[in-house]
Amino acid sequence: MKWLEVKKADSFDFKCDKIASDKSISHRCAIFSLLSDRPSVVRNYLRAEDTLCTLEIVRRLGAAIEDRDGILKITPPEELSEPDDILDCGNSGTAMRLFCGFLSSIPGHFVLTGDKYLRRRPMRRVTEPLTHIGAHIDGREEGNLAPLCIRGERLRSFNYESQIASAQVKSAMILAALRAEDVSTYSEPELSRDHTERMLRGMGANIESWDTITIEPMIRPLEPLDITVPADPSSGFFFAVAAAIVPGSRVIIENVTLNPTRTEAYRVLQKMGARVDFEEKENRYEPIGDITVTYDGKLQAVEVSDRISWLIDELPALSIAMAVAEGESVVKNAAELRVKESDRISCVIDGLKACGIECSETEDGYRITGGEISPAQIDSCGDHRIAMSFAIAGLLGDMKIKDVECIDTSFPNFAQLLASLTEVKSWR
Ligand code: S3P
Repeated sequence: MKWLEVKKADSFDFKCDKIASDKSISHRCAIFSLLSDRPSVVRNYLRAEDTLCTLEIVRRLGAAIEDRDGILKITPPEELSEPDDILDCGNSGTAMRLFCGFLSSIPGHFVLTGDKYLRRRPMRRVTEPLTHIGAHIDGREEGNLAPLCIRGERLRSFNYESQIASAQVKSAMILAALRAEDVSTYSEPELSRDHTERMLRGMGANIESWDTITIEPMIRPLEPLDITVPADPSSGFFFAVAAAIVPGSRVIIENVTLNPTRTEAYRVLQKMGARVDFEEKENRYEPIGDITVTYDGKLQAVEVSDRISWLIDELPALSIAMAVAEGESVVKNAAELRVKESDRISCVIDGLKACGIECSETEDGYRITGGEISPAQIDSCGDHRIAMSFAIAGLLGDMKIKDVECIDTSFPNFAQLLASLTEVKSWR
């Protein structure tokens, strides 16, 4: 069991171009490269456990992967091979759900599994609509829990109205639609992150997005990707919160995706009173640039109840900002937090209570009354975002966090970067 101890920090001015590469985009780079018949070139691919699992699955499906000076060349096989063993998605819901959509139409037998946390997460949200269009997928609890067995089949086109705003479900269905018999449509209650649509369109797929997404089946292989993965705004957000809560501080997060479906949490931080500046520098597949967050006085409480899918991954870190803001903050409509890598509603609330903060759970969110964070010992619940959120809380009051191996799933150099701001100790 690995521990992390974070000591109280003084003010800092931190310019960082080493925030982990975007996890969502990296998974997609690996999987989408299989939709072309030529090599894709991917710079800055995230080398973290989750995305390395995805890359390994792509290799097991027959792709040749060369890594030269950190640049990946992914050459798809002429025909995907049927792997002779199970495919391990590690801790990653994105990998499992996107591979479900992708493999449902590939001839062969595939078994997807993952770690003990992933094997508890609901997969029916993808297996049900895929089964409905002809996929053969089975798993524990009638197809809801991994390991999942897939036998590739010819898929029918569909008009699917999803009841949840989920980029993973949307991406699985778009991948299925690319190989379906005819044109398909997909709609969701509110727009979820749209990397899949942007990247596939960049590769030449016929995907139109208005209120509904229309997907034409691929009639030929797509263009390969030639992409530099930007920094991950969800990983950068831990440092954004750090700057917003430690008086006199500033952080500049460089070369991060400024896709609006990913930067909503920064806008909430702005609403709470931090100074947040966005500077767009380029636009290829996605807008990319720098985000500067500057401490600008005590934060004020906020209510967060809409565009939840645009900030769902940042809510644990945002809860640390809420814990020191003036007044009562409320998070609503976020029941989805309960089925992430951990039950993030109860893990956040248990952790904040241990820090002496007045707070309570509701079914779909929580209430947090701002106060002073006291030194505490926190259980990460095996969840990377819980571990990193409470590490940031440690900047205000010393914090010991237990079970921090999970940080490697998304942000392996997190502790190293945090050590530029304060004293950090780690032991087993
Ligand atoms: C992701 C989508 C989000 C997010 C997850 C990554 C993706 O989940 O929480 O960390 O890469 O598609 P949803 O499927 O609930 O939108």
